[in-house]
Amino acid sequence: MLIRLAVPGLGDAEVSAASAVLRSGMLVQGAEVARFEALVAARTGRKHAIAVANGTTALELGLAALGVGPGDEVLVPDLTWPSPAHAVVRAGATPVLVDVDLREWNTTPAAFAAARTARTKVAIAIDQFGMPSRVAEVAAALPGVAVLEDAACAIGSVRGDGTPAGSAPSLLATLSFHPRKVVTTGEGGMLVTDDDALADALRIARNHGQRTPGEFASAGPNARLSEVAGAIGRVQMERLDGMLTARRALAQRLRAALPMLTFQASPAHADSNVQTLGALLPEGTTTAQRDAFLVACRAREVEVGKLSYALHRLPPLAQYAPTGEAGYPHSSALVDRGVALPLWHDMDDATADRAADAVRSALSEIV
Ligand SMILES: Cc1ncc(COP(=O)(O)O)c(C=O)c1O
Repeated sequence: MLIRLAVPGLGDAEVSAASAVLRSGMLVQGAEVARFEALVAARTGRKHAIAVANGTTALELGLAALGVGPGDEVLVPDLTWPSPAHAVVRAGATPVLVDVDLREWNTTPAAFAAARTARTKVAIAIDQFGMPSRVAEVAAALPGVAVLEDAACAIGSVRGDGTPAGSAPSLLATLSFHPRKVVTTGEGGMLVTDDDALADALRIARNHGQRTPGEFASAGPNARLSEVAGAIGRVQMERLDGMLTARRALAQRLRAALPMLTFQASPAHADSNVQTLGALLPEGTTTAQRDAFLVACRAREVEVGKLSYALHRLPPLAQYAPTGEAGYPHSSALVDRGVALPLWHDMDDATADRAADAVRSALSEIV
């Protein structure tokens, strides 16, 4: 049977919570979304959490609340899913794509600082694949620039200084609850902050621009999360610690079984939630060999994916990378040689071992 890349960890408790909402007749703006928000606020050490439809909408609303618009530049790591850069374009501003670190796969404070101009309004620090970015150092390197932490992948991750991903000193952080994430509600997202004014603006923005029911303050979208999703998210948050323990142990088992691969490095003392177990194939592996490796894994009934995207190569974003390939040696190398290995929290050890065996055998076929 095919070993999948990811399997959402939904069980009987989520099914019961969702069906209770369906039977209640209260499908939007009820207690479950509020309970989910309270759990995420507590977990990220924040005063406010505002649930929205998905992680991309969270970024769009976050940038709008920070006042990003035409004429502004926003710094965005080059290695990621395109949402953060697309959100900047959709705000009418200019994304400035910044290369990432070859070891930690996040953008460094120095690289962010070097890309800053007089027009830089926001820097988006991404906790890529759940690995906490160095948010405090990024904030210190960019005085006067708001740091928006894209913690889409990072619920439950802990930074090197012991603070949770998504917490201060980023001004605002966004999360995603897509099925590939550690906590999922199907589609879902959230913004977290300690800033009262930002939180007020975001609550208004997600709800048709209404300050109170019927009192319209702005031409806002409907970006609310449904009660069914809220109930699933509430149960997932209650199970988060168990899911993290299992996930981290399985990731360690896979890393130990695959010493010929290079894994994402962690800042000292940081503890990723391992949302994605990314790995680089041995030095010298070509992109064609990497692709052959993916096919060879599939032939062994193991789903292995490409690692991610180098945004400067994507047609809607290439115009924001005037230096082309030359400006992004690290993200280019990572996407060309990178893969995502199967991992989910209730994968059993035998499945992890079978996946590692298949990876080893596929590798020997291509190199
Ligand atoms: C870093 C990052 N930001 C934003 C998103 C967008 O989240 P969503 O899929 O919930 O819109 C994703 C992934 O899905 C992501 O990986």
